[in-house]
Amino acid sequence: MEYTLDKFIEDSRMAAAEYPDFSDVVDVLAPKMLRLINGDRSFLKPEHFQDDPHHYARNAVFVCPEDGISLFTMVWNPGQWTPVHDHGTWGVVGVLKGVLEEKSFIRTDAREIDDEGIVLKRGGVILLGENSVTTFVPNPDHIHKTGVPDTREQAVTLHMYGREMNDYYCYNVATGRRAHVQVSYRDATGV
Ligand SMILES: [Fe+2]
Repeated sequence: MEYTLDKFIEDSRMAAAEYPDFSDVVDVLAPKMLRLINGDRSFLKPEHFQDDPHHYARNAVFVCPEDGISLFTMVWNPGQWTPVHDHGTWGVVGVLKGVLEEKSFIRTDAREIDDEGIVLKRGGVILLGENSVTTFVPNPDHIHKTGVPDTREQAVTLHMYGREMNDYYCYNVATGRRAHVQVSYRDATGV
């Protein structure tokens, strides 16, 4: 039986409600995301593939703050990257097209002040190919930057998050500060 977008949203809603531990939520949803992106992708419309010449594009597929979940496509043109950031919730990411690169950062200071004196060390890099899935949980944070180098072709990814995801923490590695910033998205939900 085909695994539909509606079923994935329902499964995400139930997992978010059922499991207090975010690791359990992503454990349940990772294989479901894999099934979704490797199945019938007819739920994806042209508006979900819109890019932006100035920065990576976020296109809403489904946003439901009441249930604490939101689903976006992201379109990454060559050379487009996020800042170093931290979502503050769980996420399940599937690659629809191309290769998404993720560079991780590890916070190594004593956390005496939440937003200052932050010491980040660079971690490893992951190259996520088409039809693959990754997840993250804040433990207590998950700091990374993602994008596509200018030497690689456009990537398109699908992201389910544990909240509306219209803001996140951005980190300035040089100054050791972080700030809460708003992030916009294009409403491509079609409703
Ligand atoms: Fe992220």
